[in-house]
Amino acid sequence: VPVAVMISGRGSNMAALIEASRDPAYPAEIVLVISNKETAPGLETAAAAGIATAFIDYRGSGSRAAFEEAASAAIEQAGAHYVCLAGFMRLLTPAFVDRWRDRLINIHPSLLPAFPGLHTHERALEAGVRIAGCTVHFVRAEMDHGPIIAQAAVPVLSRDTPQTLGARVLAAEHKLYPLALALVASGRARVLAERVLIDDEPC
Ligand code: GRF
Repeated sequence: VPVAVMISGRGSNMAALIEASRDPAYPAEIVLVISNKETAPGLETAAAAGIATAFIDYRGSGSRAAFEEAASAAIEQAGAHYVCLAGFMRLLTPAFVDRWRDRLINIHPSLLPAFPGLHTHERALEAGVRIAGCTVHFVRAEMDHGPIIAQAAVPVLSRDTPQTLGARVLAAEHKLYPLALALVASGRARVLAERVLIDDEPC
């Protein structure tokens, strides 16, 4: 199944998805990487891996709507059936989210619904939680909200800094996102009444 990825920066999750899709048995193929930042390092990583890339500017006239029109057009032209947000740092409008409903996926570095938004690791440490992690979910208009496809947990250690905790969570993200996308692309994860139902899951 062809998939587009949207990034704004480093693109390490994008790289993990590209790496996973190298396996011919993997059910998804990354066909396009879109960035709203021209200098996003992830664009070079993608190009080096032989993936088509597009920089779409957010600024200028009509800004948000124009960006989303251009993004949708590029995704459709590439024939992508799913769109993965991977460190894409802009909020998308309800119009875009509805257009790609149940085909638009995001990864967030916390165990949602805890700690939506930014600075998740600082906030997790401040709250004193003992388990942190990451979440892959279908996107809804509300930020970091939507049916959860998969989550991974990591321990919080007493001497953790936001950096050490963030690195541990990021390593988990790189395993979780390919796994979650495989569930969706293979048709094993479906949205039913705003929850994700995984087929042939052991009871
Ligand atoms: C990741 O922690 C992701 O969960 C969050 O932004 C970060 C992006 O990192 N949404 P990268 O660009 O994938 O390296």
